[in-house]
Amino acid sequence: MQKTMVPGYAYGSAELPRSPVGLEELDRLKATVMFTRDDAEALRLAGDVLEDQVEDVLDVWYGFVADHPHLLAYFSTPDGQPIQAYLDRARQRFGRWILDTCRRPYDRSWLDYQEEIALRHTHEKKNTADGVDSVDNIPLRHVIAFIYPITATVRPFLARKGHSAEQVEAMYQAWFKAVTLQVALWSRPYVRDGDW
Ligand code: HEM
Repeated sequence: MQKTMVPGYAYGSAELPRSPVGLEELDRLKATVMFTRDDAEALRLAGDVLEDQVEDVLDVWYGFVADHPHLLAYFSTPDGQPIQAYLDRARQRFGRWILDTCRRPYDRSWLDYQEEIALRHTHEKKNTADGVDSVDNIPLRHVIAFIYPITATVRPFLARKGHSAEQVEAMYQAWFKAVTLQVALWSRPYVRDGDW
């Protein structure tokens, strides 16, 4: 795990609100997305494979956002000026998240940080970690749709370290499940009470 300080990164902080989602519900959600122990193991391998490629992955994701004005808008002021400091700070947290997805146990602390990440995409907490004056919500439809690019673009990086086709496929499927699982958790604050 990287040890450098990342602005706004609050994993494990005692000040974070607790996720209202329980560990039993997490287990059911894992079952829905077909996430097993083998996937957790494949993710550990993916962490080793991705560790020294994190900046390259982020270059691809940031290039994708930069190429789509409707996405760049969420890192911009309400009148459409991109906020470079916001892009830079969030980028460092994205980097930590790649390795957290691969290496952290999916336990109570992890669930609590999932809730925090969810809120940071919504009216409730967007912009607060970085003290910026950007638009204050990312619509859920884009968060869900982003599962595809965040997944598909990782595959070539997983294949770059000489692992067998089977190992690459296992890492890729595990990554896809882990991202889907997280976005399912992140949908919670967007959904009417009782409907999540
Ligand atoms: C923050 C991942 C969808 C824009 C973050 C962070 C992660 C992340 C890991 C940093 C969390 C932290 O603070 O520690 C993802 C994933 C997505 C997704 C996995 C979908 C699969 C989107 C979409 C947009 C977006 C569609 C729109 C362009 C942002 C912004 C922040 C952010 C602006 C900074 C929020 C803040 O703290 O103010 N995202 N994201 N994300 N993401 Fe997303």
